[in-house]
Amino acid sequence: MTANQFIKRVEKYNLPFSQIYDLIAFMLNIDYSEAKYASDKEIDDDRAEHILYQLENKEPCAYITGRREFYGREFIVNRNTLIPRVETEILVEEVIKRYKNAEKIELIDICSGSGAIGLTLMHEINISFLTLLDIDEKSLAVSKQNAEKFNIIKNIEFLCSDILNYTTEKKYDIVVCNPPYIAENEYCFLQEEVKKEPYHALVAEDNGLVFYKKILSNFEILCKSNGVIFFEIGAYQAPSVIDYAAAYNLYAECVKDYSGNDRVIIVKNSKRGI
Ligand SMILES: C[S@@+](CC[C@H](N)C(=O)[O-])C[C@H]1O[C@@H](n2cnc3c(N)ncnc32)[C@H](O)[C@@H]1O
Repeated sequence: MTANQFIKRVEKYNLPFSQIYDLIAFMLNIDYSEAKYASDKEIDDDRAEHILYQLENKEPCAYITGRREFYGREFIVNRNTLIPRVETEILVEEVIKRYKNAEKIELIDICSGSGAIGLTLMHEINISFLTLLDIDEKSLAVSKQNAEKFNIIKNIEFLCSDILNYTTEKKYDIVVCNPPYIAENEYCFLQEEVKKEPYHALVAEDNGLVFYKKILSNFEILCKSNGVIFFEIGAYQAPSVIDYAAAYNLYAECVKDYSGNDRVIIVKNSKRGI
């Protein structure tokens, strides 16, 4: 079938154009930028039918192609990793805004998944040491593949650890964390495509709040004296996370995403602007 015929067949899945063209680029083994001009190109029928079958079975495009763009770079992903979301770019932007002129930053990306946040920041700001921490060895292996792909393997530590039982001697200037934050009782309402992602990357105990509580309780252990935590949060979690921060005498501010939802919480131990 032609690429155009493929586009017609996938219409019913309501995929964003970016994902449709990524599938076409993947099947034709061409650059994403060329896919839009490839409508007359022939795609191998068996390959196209197999992908249509996967879409019918709610397989996310990123798992079919094994990649997803995040902050302008293409990350390797697979079924062991959460697929990086565009909303998470807000957290990255907030860090860059504040630290673009800083030097020798030591940063930990907690719940690092594919490494999307930490490895992007490694490109964008002056990080001298990066820790990527995840409980899942397979996920950590993908983040290592991404670091190798971007040729930034130096000064990175890949740490397989449970943040809920974590102790460290090392303190950081910046902690970034996009933890699992969906409440257990909300899981059943997720789209089938989202349920193909690892359960432990999505769902957290305590109404989705357990990671924020734990990490805030360890603020002094994780952060240097001027250290700052950047959390991604779910749309209704800001009041609870701000309250937890206050309980530890920490100051928190909230940043909204482009849809107007609360998305990032920034926590520090003084009122001083950052
Ligand atoms: C929401 S995903 C975030 C992935 C990535 N940072 C991103 O933004 O695309 C959460 C990640 O937390 C990891 N995780 C879950 N429980 C954890 C724990 N107790 N300690 C450390 N990491 C954990 C999962 O394996 C998953 O990779």
